[in-house]
Amino acid sequence: MRSLAQRFGTVALLAPIGLFGSLGIARAADAAAGKQVFHAQCAICHSDQPGVNKIGPSLFGVVGRHTGSEPGYDYSVANKNANIVWTPAVLDRYIADPQQVVPGTKMPYGGLHNAAKRANLIAFLETLQKPGAVAGVGTAGKSAAAASGLPAKGRSNG
Ligand code: HEC
Repeated sequence: MRSLAQRFGTVALLAPIGLFGSLGIARAADAAAGKQVFHAQCAICHSDQPGVNKIGPSLFGVVGRHTGSEPGYDYSVANKNANIVWTPAVLDRYIADPQQVVPGTKMPYGGLHNAAKRANLIAFLETLQKPGAVAGVGTAGKSAAAASGLPAKGRSNG
């Protein structure tokens, strides 16, 4: 019985360590690291600045954007007609293998096969948004109750 208790003690002690350990790995998406991936893999052809098109279109605001919609960029027919939205999940598949997601794309990039690097890169791409694009919490709906002109209730008749 005693050794069983000791075993439970050991398990109870190790379980949280294992949990935190795996959380640390799962939480690997790191925008700062992704920025380095961007500069190493993408920046030769893509800008992270709004409205700056290079060999490829600006990737500012790309997350949530429709394929082929960056103004002033001359897309291939394949990209223009792909009719997909660049969600993180689609970007993940595209960056791994562009030709598979947009067959005939003129993006001359063989694919980034390291999933952790892709996750970091996409975390970085998600930061490329106009400030306040998602915010905009209004303060409407303030109650008009204060403006009530109702007379105070008369005192109760004992
Ligand atoms: C050698 C140049 C080159 C490299 C490197 C490159 N791209 Fe591209 N990219 C292009 C071109 C060119 C296009 C336009 C494709 C088309 O019109 O068919 C494009 C298109 C895209 C699109 C579609 C954008 C839209 O508005 O529809 C995304 C997303 C994209 N690239 C992401 C990336 C990412 C992320 C990397 C780095 C991992 C990368 N690209 C690396 C040249 C490149």
